Amino acid sequence: MSDDIQSTLHETRVFPPADDFVRQANVSGMDAYRALVDEAERDHAAFWARLARENIAWRKPFTRTLDDANAPFYKWFEDGELNVSWNCLDRHLDTQGDKTALIFEADDGTVTKVSYRELHARVCQFANALKAKKIAKGDRVIIYLPMSIEAVVAMQACARIGAIHSVVFGGFSARSLHERIIDTQACAVITADAQYRGGREMPLKPVVDESLAAGDCESVHTVIVYQRASGETPWNDGRDIWWHDAIAGQPAVCEPEWVSAEHPLFILYTSGSTGKPKGVQHSSGGYLLGAIMSMRWVFDYKPADVFWCTADVGWVTGHTYVTYGPLAVGATEVVFEGVPTWPDAGRFWKMIQDHKVTTFYTAPTAIRSLIKLGGDLPKQYDLSSLRLLGSVGEPINPEAWIWYYKVVGGERCPIVDTWWQTETGMHMISPLPGAIPAKPGSCTLPLPGIDAAIVNEAGEEVHDQHGGFLVIKKPFPSQLRTIWGNPERFQKGYFPAEMHGYYLAGDSAHRDEDGYFWIMGRIDDVLKVSGHRLGTMEIESALVAHTHVAEAAVVGRPHDIKGESIVAFVVLKGARPAEAEAAKKLIAELREWVSKELGPIAKPDEIRFGENLPKTRSGKIMRRLLRAIAQGQEITQDVSTLENPAILDQLKEVVR
Ligand code: PRX
Repeated sequence: MSDDIQSTLHETRVFPPADDFVRQANVSGMDAYRALVDEAERDHAAFWARLARENIAWRKPFTRTLDDANAPFYKWFEDGELNVSWNCLDRHLDTQGDKTALIFEADDGTVTKVSYRELHARVCQFANALKAKKIAKGDRVIIYLPMSIEAVVAMQACARIGAIHSVVFGGFSARSLHERIIDTQACAVITADAQYRGGREMPLKPVVDESLAAGDCESVHTVIVYQRASGETPWNDGRDIWWHDAIAGQPAVCEPEWVSAEHPLFILYTSGSTGKPKGVQHSSGGYLLGAIMSMRWVFDYKPADVFWCTADVGWVTGHTYVTYGPLAVGATEVVFEGVPTWPDAGRFWKMIQDHKVTTFYTAPTAIRSLIKLGGDLPKQYDLSSLRLLGSVGEPINPEAWIWYYKVVGGERCPIVDTWWQTETGMHMISPLPGAIPAKPGSCTLPLPGIDAAIVNEAGEEVHDQHGGFLVIKKPFPSQLRTIWGNPERFQKGYFPAEMHGYYLAGDSAHRDEDGYFWIMGRIDDVLKVSGHRLGTMEIESALVAHTHVAEAAVVGRPHDIKGESIVAFVVLKGARPAEAEAAKKLIAELREWVSKELGPIAKPDEIRFGENLPKTRSGKIMRRLLRAIAQGQEITQDVSTLENPAILDQLKEVVR
């Protein structure tokens, strides 16, 4: 393993923040950053306790900060009581009720603005509608909605009544949805008749119907359907209700359910190295604190900002930096239904111009595709409102970083390359833009109170530049609390014995001479395709579920725009198709099959057939060889432990 994690990046340019940015920054200059880091080092729990007292409105103040008696099942601020929705909405009503909370731009360009007062009323109304359906504290609610005001309202309404939401990305299949409904034992699903993306209408409600019909979904008694399109959709009278009917007559006030800081706020599924997605469970108080602090530190939030995070609410980025963080600090934010490339690759830039966006947060894969489709397009728009840019989801390559910096940011805006995960809930390693000089491709230094380090297989810290496993040594408030229904998997996966109680992130990284972190990739079998995390095992299981497939191995191959593309090696039950046409037909069928099983994002880009897979004598698939084959590299690695060397030639064949 260690020989895989040599660093090859040699980026030396340094971009310190401009003086006028430093002057106005919430954390102004390196000394201010160091002061926060030192405060946390002196007394870790006291540091987070101070921030929690200053930044969260508690119904009942906490007296215990960190309970580590049952580590790694940490508890933060447990005897404190709060409501996350109250913190995001009610507390702004007196001071800025008329301020715009959401600027929603639909796929077709229609813009709807919602003030804090209006959003509060809508959340309360919908919360009352949920209560009328007997949905209560602790119940799980699946949200399968397009990017919309309603998605934010639905999540906030769940938080308001203490129900635990689990948002499923609208691009996931009926099967993925089914799996999540069963795992959470959800009592309700909130969906829409259809969604619009890039001018196309795509049905959503029929996908819900299909998954509920697949069996074992007796827990679901209610399906609430927001009408986004024509409203013509199959209907199940006893179970389905239109959103507009559900809220009709409901009062626009709703006393929040006050919950312990440790009450689960949401479950969000993410891929791991084994087949089944993991239900990452987050808390209320610690998670909210993480969202707020990162808005202030990393996004340097100011009341006049217009904040735009382009992530879908189906991912953690859309949870923390669309639904919770911006509202908790009282920001005005843009919510976008569509895609960056429609009607053309200038859409993002036009929206930044139209809404005078100050803070723009997107993914490297989007940046790369926009460079490819129109690297000069940003120049046609007035982007002078921008003051800060952000990147998330995968390493940003220095070329894309420089383009983003120059062409989008006009060499004026710092870039925050934010490293974090579904499991961490908030940014972990990122420049604080008014303090830490940026280096393209590096996420730089840990946030105050985040004790990140790099260790070897034995959990010992490594200080050279060879790299190792990225760990977080001390617990932090926003970290996942467990894997829903599987505490053992939580403990084994994130806190393995050899790591001495450190949180193992699953990434490899190294630090340079300035202590900057450079993320090198995953240490498990997880791919990052267009910034989305996909388990190779998940895709393999889907392939093997096809009647013709005996065995499958999936690896990633570097891809200019998507980061990684998916290459599948497949062993069929019968003989390999002799004719190219037959092989092509089967490949198309298998690609569609995976898309149907998991969702279009998991569709393999390439499928190759072999009579077997390269295995060691003990039967372990040699993925390193498959990765080399997928990249068209000569095999220079040692193949002496390979049971069946002849198979390598077969797998090099690509059907064209
Ligand atoms: O491998 C790291 C990569 O994305 C993983 C987390 O994926 P997910 O839980 O889907 O969350 C994505 C949004 C937070 C990490 O383990 N990753 C995320 N951000 C970066 C990154 N890799 C390098 N640089 C980043 N800024």
